Amino acid sequence: MTILGIETSCDETSAAVVRDGRLLANVTATQLFHSQYGGVVPELASRAHQRRIIPVVEESLQKAGVSKKDLDGVAAVYGPGLIGAILVGLSFGKSMALGLGIPFVGVNHMEAHIFSNLIDDPKPTFPFVSLTVSGGHTQLVLVKGPFEYDLLGETKDDAAGEAFDKVAKMLGLGYPGGPLIDKYAREGNPSLVSFPRPYLEEGSLEFSFSGLKTSVLYYLRRTGYKPAPGGDVASESNNKLRADLCASFQAAVVDVLVGKAIRAAHMSGVKQIAVSGGVSANSELRRRMQEAAAKRGLQVFIPKFEYCTDNGAMVAMVGYTKLQSGQTSSLELTAEPNLSLS
Ligand code: KG4
Ligand code: ZN
Repeated sequence: MTILGIETSCDETSAAVVRDGRLLANVTATQLFHSQYGGVVPELASRAHQRRIIPVVEESLQKAGVSKKDLDGVAAVYGPGLIGAILVGLSFGKSMALGLGIPFVGVNHMEAHIFSNLIDDPKPTFPFVSLTVSGGHTQLVLVKGPFEYDLLGETKDDAAGEAFDKVAKMLGLGYPGGPLIDKYAREGNPSLVSFPRPYLEEGSLEFSFSGLKTSVLYYLRRTGYKPAPGGDVASESNNKLRADLCASFQAAVVDVLVGKAIRAAHMSGVKQIAVSGGVSANSELRRRMQEAAAKRGLQVFIPKFEYCTDNGAMVAMVGYTKLQSGQTSSLELTAEPNLSLS
């Protein structure tokens, strides 16, 4: 069974081919031009998806050595995400399925992130806890089976990646800010400022990063920190301060993510934690997650970078699993920007 998977929910146009549960090709075109606006501009994202969808799909088929008539199904994301962006991949996927006379499968983007840990070996086995941390989402889910999810907690305000991006902006760094904070933090002292760790009430698995972000803002105002455009600060002492602030902020986010993921595994009685989403590329999160899990006899899974950020491979993997169990979608399925996992 050969499936094409399409992802266009934000700023990545991506397509992948999965045959019998094995990934044959994954092609992603990232829209780098959003960095000049300091964030994703929805209308520009949809237009770029329109320009790129055909070449990206064709390249994925070519790399996989598969022709359109070899396909047994097409899967595409229908939410959550930016409505105009989703509509491009969704309409394209549905039209392709209709034209080829094969089934169409609509995929939940958050379910796809969970499946990004089921692409390469070693894979977690059910049940496991999934932590998805991206620019738009921060979610802890108990994954009981391929399509059986209990939402354990999610963010009440900013997503973890959004907090990284907003703090980076305050520090005068570029967009997306997560990788830059990660880079500068490597040279910094995480104990310079003890920013608040928003654990919320005892035992809570919910997240909230907006207070932490505000507390960075107040610290910068109080100390009169003046970022230079592009993040280049003239003096050496300012460079040191920037690194220390990045490390201190990052340590607060990582403490909370690691603490809650471990607590979720403990509360659910499972031994495996799978991390996904763009923020799972963070080097400190990866290190601390492994360290904390090893101390408690837990196993951590984090996909390779290509599958951490948005990609077609995770969509094709959900599509394959659904089609195999006989689940298909109507061609009337439409975009749902606020689609939830349940
Ligand atoms: O999953 P993703 O590619 O797109 C969304 O679905 O949002 O995640 C993008 C987010 C951005 O907020 C970016 O700053 C963050 O992931 N990110 C990182 C790192 N690499 C990407 N955050 C922290 N450290 C990183 N190394
Ligand atoms: Zn995503």
